[in-house]
Amino acid sequence: MHDHLTFGQRLEADDDVAVNRSTERPFESILAARLSQIGTPAGVAATAVGGVVAASLFSGKTLSRRGLMKGAAASVALAGAAGALGTAIAPRAAHAAEGASTLTFPPLPHSYDENSHVAEGYEIQTLIRWGDPVVAGAPDFDPMNQTAEAQSKQFGYNNDFVGFMPLPVGSNTSDHGLLCVNHEYTNPDLMFPGSPGAEDLTAEQVDIEMAAHGHAVVEIKREGNTWSVVKDSPLNRRFTALETEFELTGPAAGSDRLKTSYDSTGTKVIGTCNNCAGGKTPWGTILFAEENFHGYFMGDVTKTAEAENYERYGVGGGRYAWGKYHDRFDVEKEPNEANRFGWMVEFDPYDPNSVPKKRTTLGRFKHEGATTALDKSGHVVVYAGDDQRFEYVYRFVTAGTYNPDDRAANMDLLDEGTLSVAKFNEDGTLNWMPLVFGEGPLTPENGINSQADILIDTRKAADLVGATPMDRPEDVEPNPVNGIIYAMMTNNTKREADQINVANTRAHNRHGHVVEIIPPGTAPDGDGANADHTADQYTWDIFLLAGDPSKPEDGAMYGGDVGENGWLSCPDNVAFDSKGRIWISTDGGPKSGIADGVWAADVTGPGRAITRRFYACPQGAELCGPEFTPDDSTYFAAVQHPADEKGSTFENPSTRWPDFDEALPARPAVQVLVKTGGGAIG
Ligand code: FEO
Ligand code: CA
Ligand code: CA
Repeated sequence: MHDHLTFGQRLEADDDVAVNRSTERPFESILAARLSQIGTPAGVAATAVGGVVAASLFSGKTLSRRGLMKGAAASVALAGAAGALGTAIAPRAAHAAEGASTLTFPPLPHSYDENSHVAEGYEIQTLIRWGDPVVAGAPDFDPMNQTAEAQSKQFGYNNDFVGFMPLPVGSNTSDHGLLCVNHEYTNPDLMFPGSPGAEDLTAEQVDIEMAAHGHAVVEIKREGNTWSVVKDSPLNRRFTALETEFELTGPAAGSDRLKTSYDSTGTKVIGTCNNCAGGKTPWGTILFAEENFHGYFMGDVTKTAEAENYERYGVGGGRYAWGKYHDRFDVEKEPNEANRFGWMVEFDPYDPNSVPKKRTTLGRFKHEGATTALDKSGHVVVYAGDDQRFEYVYRFVTAGTYNPDDRAANMDLLDEGTLSVAKFNEDGTLNWMPLVFGEGPLTPENGINSQADILIDTRKAADLVGATPMDRPEDVEPNPVNGIIYAMMTNNTKREADQINVANTRAHNRHGHVVEIIPPGTAPDGDGANADHTADQYTWDIFLLAGDPSKPEDGAMYGGDVGENGWLSCPDNVAFDSKGRIWISTDGGPKSGIADGVWAADVTGPGRAITRRFYACPQGAELCGPEFTPDDSTYFAAVQHPADEKGSTFENPSTRWPDFDEALPARPAVQVLVKTGGGAIG
């Protein structure tokens, strides 16, 4: 073995690099201000254990931001009065997990084994796996004889985002559509015979890795209750890091900082990488993210003119060997190439010849994904998270408006508009701080010389306007029913007690939390149609603090008693069913001894934030891509990096999921979950 960490752990370790130098006001001073405003509240059970400031508000009806601040204040007050004080509290026994919720499926028990599991009354089908043929002429998977040419036509590795796009375009069909899937990264130790480390990969293996990244479009159909892939469909497609050409569009396109020896125009890029989550637009296009792009570049960044920028993003000294065989992934040979990654891509899945576009308006950072809301004004609003410790939540509002009668007229709507970044205030409001050249500190005195600079150095611009550093923002997605945006903060074990802020209330946040970002005009039980997604000021709340409620040191908080199996850890991706209920998939459960999977909950009423487990991943895997068909009859589960555990190899994986065939390695795959006999899930 080349390393004692699994590949996933090494990726995670990337986030340890402290690149955010933001001087956002520390929580202590915010807390002092809040204490003077509200005094020390009574009736709030609180814990302060091992330096963790946490609050448990089961004495209240539901969690609330105000209650949480009171709880945090109380715990500090208690800790101050009695030293390091631990007050164990029992979760409120108000309502049994099953009684309060509108969910009808029985809770799935926690597990950690070689297979995936779903709640009783539901069925699992494996739809497509790494190596399965996608485009016409693709060969069958042959793990002992992999080639880049074959991989470029087959389903890629580590499926993440899943978007179901009904066929025909514009319809609400739930039994026929295009499945649009990201392929985020590669695990060479689980992919190739002999489990080579990155430094040992051959040129062909590097090309296979590059071909296993990107995105796949696959036509799928349901007959009765059974889904299958439409083989050789002319709509099936692969984008890769190896060969696909992308266009750069928007204000940064053509910037000198985006020009390379391959592309003197600064508008054409070969490849995409680390395609994590994504979203869909109202006009039926797909948005997919370039997340941890930094790790693909080798070389000494201090030898480039982009050193400050590259250090802020952690570029250089890459953990992939791509630069060994492809000069563009070596910053000493191609110093601007790393500016051409870290964008959101938009493409039209219904046109097999459409050119995928990197939309520079949406900024350059480690995009988890991007999701959209159609505002009542007709403007389209994009929400996004920058997934690294202490990074930010962003919003983009189009300059133009959506035309429901002319699909083509919307195709470049995302090229013009205003990007802004979230500042969470202690009074429960949230300001969207515009990132516009010449406004506030975004001027040449601070090294910002154009809007292109703001979009390339988005983190720097966001630092300058005082954005709130968050606990790794993953999916940030509007609930179409109530119009509230649910933001997954996956975890941040590096946050120290003096770095706590109003929206990130736990030091060493191991389990993550979910924040509600609330546009004016709506509420948890409100109507999303009335939400104003273009307002400069919103409010916000905490939906849940993940962790095990039976362990006071976790400081977990849910809407009520989640039972033994309802607690979760490390929320990552999110989806909403047509009733507006939240479905949270996780990445990090194994660190707490439980399989990752998906948990559902109501967002309003007595079942608010009372999570219930629906599906469990096989060991070593995380769950990505929660997605429903429009009628809620099918749920798509993207299982990423099965068998990614210490000591697990290509030859001896800890699970051979999903095939359990001695001749096949573990394979990332998309499974579909349906109700036995059909009908809406939930
Ligand atoms: Fe690729 Fe932020 O998970
Ligand atoms: Ca993710
Ligand atoms: Ca993840």
